[in-house]
Amino acid sequence: TSGMNKLICLVLLSNDPCCAQPCQNQGVCLSKGADAYECDCTRTGYYGENCTTPELLTLIKSTLKPRPNIVHYILTHYKWIWDIINNISFLRDAIMRYVLTSRSHLVNSPPTYNADYNYKSWEAYSN
Ligand SMILES: *[C@@H]1O[C@H](CO)[C@@H](O)[C@H](O)[C@H]1NC(C)=O
Ligand SMILES: *[C@@H]1O[C@H](CO)[C@@H](O)[C@H](O)[C@H]1NC(C)=O
Repeated sequence: TSGMNKLICLVLLSNDPCCAQPCQNQGVCLSKGADAYECDCTRTGYYGENCTTPELLTLIKSTLKPRPNIVHYILTHYKWIWDIINNISFLRDAIMRYVLTSRSHLVNSPPTYNADYNYKSWEAYSN
């Protein structure tokens, strides 16, 4: 819709305040007349008049989000980090396999056991 708005602004040379695209970070501009507007910052992670103030969660995310060049540097200079990551995922895979097989074992065996048990107890009862 922002591309559509741009087109309308170009074609009509509109004075709509939203044509100045005041809403940042994918905020939705709502025109409120000739020179008034409102930014709908819903789900942008920002708030404020122009959706420029980051929410706390956005701040935390951008702090935690590693920059690609740093990640590249770490991966090329600290091979042992990769080793640990690989070993951890290897461990995780092994654990998951164990959990899945033991769980499916648990899922499969009780009905068999119960059927056996029920059959036997029914037999014992009917005797
Ligand atoms: C929001 O954007 C408008 C237009 O660019 C600007 O005049 C106004 O100062 C901005 N407000 C804030 C709080 O940054
Ligand atoms: C990861 O595991 C390999 C063998 O699977 C081992 O040789 C290596 O030392 C381990 N690396 C770390 C950091 O534990």
